[in-house]
Amino acid sequence: MASEVKVLIGVFLVLASLLREALLAEFPGEGVAPPSPPTPCCFPSSFQATVADMRSAATGNMRLFEVYRDWEKRLQVQRVLEFAPPGQTTAVMTMIMDFQNAVHHMVSASGDCQSQPLDYAMLEPCMPETAQYLGQTYLGFGGDTTNFQTWSFTRTDKGRNITMTVGVTASDCVPVVETIVGTLGLS
Ligand SMILES: *[C@@H]1O[C@H](CO)[C@@H](O)[C@H](O)[C@H]1NC(C)=O
Repeated sequence: MASEVKVLIGVFLVLASLLREALLAEFPGEGVAPPSPPTPCCFPSSFQATVADMRSAATGNMRLFEVYRDWEKRLQVQRVLEFAPPGQTTAVMTMIMDFQNAVHHMVSASGDCQSQPLDYAMLEPCMPETAQYLGQTYLGFGGDTTNFQTWSFTRTDKGRNITMTVGVTASDCVPVVETIVGTLGLS
């Protein structure tokens, strides 16, 4: 159970270190008075995203996750895909995390289903008040850039011991890059 989730967790380490360097490059040090930081925000209560596992890219076995998240229903569904260039994907499995009933279903590509208890809570949409603002940065080059604001916070309750670093769009707090390190679940 816990290990299933760790697959997703370790995932964005490469991006995270890129992000760190981008931040360091953006804020080389003294001389500029920092603007007053924004306040922690809330992700949309439901959204879907295609998430690339940047760590898996280095293995030549690139994984994508189609993530569907609904806080009101306390439901998160992750379709795991393997990416085969050019532009083709194969479904590996689907994980259905039903936090309301504390159960986790794993459906294999062949349709076999296994269920296990889910022993940690769903990530809340709102960052905690103690979230640390890391600054604003961007991905891209020249006139072709995407800006986002970066935050870091921990959750050490409800079966979770994680640190999440996340880049969100400034206007809507939509997550665009993230790394989660730590453990989920009791074992
Ligand atoms: C969370 O993990 C960190 C690093 O492994 C550890 O030092 C800390 O004691 C853990 N905290 C809790 C509440 O389990």
